[in-house]
Amino acid sequence: MQTLSFANNDQMPILGLGTWKSEPGDVGAAVKEAIKAGYRHIDCAAIYGNEAEIGVALQEIFTADIVKREELWITSKLWNNAHTLQQVTEALENSLRDLQLEYLDLYLIHWPIAFRPGVVFAAKPADFMTLEEVPLAETWSGMEACVEQGQARHIGVSNFNIDHLEEISQSAKIKPEMNQVELHPYLQQPELLEYCRKKYIHLTAYSPLGSMDRPDVLKKADEPSLLENDTVKTIAEAHGFSPAQVLIRFAIERGTAVIPKSTNPARLAENFRAAELSLSADDMASLAGLESGFRYVDGSFFTPPGSPYTLEFLWG
Ligand code: A2P
Repeated sequence: MQTLSFANNDQMPILGLGTWKSEPGDVGAAVKEAIKAGYRHIDCAAIYGNEAEIGVALQEIFTADIVKREELWITSKLWNNAHTLQQVTEALENSLRDLQLEYLDLYLIHWPIAFRPGVVFAAKPADFMTLEEVPLAETWSGMEACVEQGQARHIGVSNFNIDHLEEISQSAKIKPEMNQVELHPYLQQPELLEYCRKKYIHLTAYSPLGSMDRPDVLKKADEPSLLENDTVKTIAEAHGFSPAQVLIRFAIERGTAVIPKSTNPARLAENFRAAELSLSADDMASLAGLESGFRYVDGSFFTPPGSPYTLEFLWG
């Protein structure tokens, strides 16, 4: 498996298992199945509400001697309601307790958006904290403390634009090493890619298949399908691979990590085999031609009336 290399020479497998929307009751089996199929990178987050079940699954895997902890790359993310300096390390400790791990390979700030402590999902203006109250630089200091305490090997962010990255980089003692964002042929974000390359920040592509299993409240009417796209289907047929494999390989060819979610054993295995597909320059050019600026996860759930945050703030 291809890897992304970090400054200290740690290697992150480029293809990981996404666990957003993997339901409790399914996610543990999916993680075990994935590791048996060869996955060595699992992408988690506190807000997915399934880290405790993943922790049980990992323990079973370690006890059965299928892999050792140090052979896995485990990522988790800090939720929006724990952005103050003191809360960050506590939140990481909660994730570590749930995951039954002593350290994470990578810990990310999930969004550049802060909620008041205790608010799981902000619904009214008073549920939010502004970035004047809790600057991103303060949250980043908490992330640095996680590294200093040995509980996170690497730290980074998710859903950050160039301005947000610049803001934390100015006062950072440890530079962010990862930005996990939505990336696929409809949303290729070339400027962000270029900026991150120059700054030695890796990218991870989330929603690479279009995340069609999102709850309806997070969907727009008439969303375009990636898996049903004619160009994607034609390339897939030409290579004897599936549309999902083409989309996963597209991310890998661009040098980004990619975390397709599945809880289905056959699709988990299929997605893993995307590493064996080779796309030509013509294939990549055809896929690049699908750019339309379309976001499946557009962040509008953070911008109810009176919210201190706007879509302009989020995406520039
Ligand atoms: P399932 O978990 O039943 O396999 P994303 O990674 O963009 O969030 O997309 C996840 C969605 O794509 C889920 O609905 C998942 O369903 C589905 N999916 C995952 N792998 C494949 C595949 N190889 N072919 C078709 N759909 C897939």
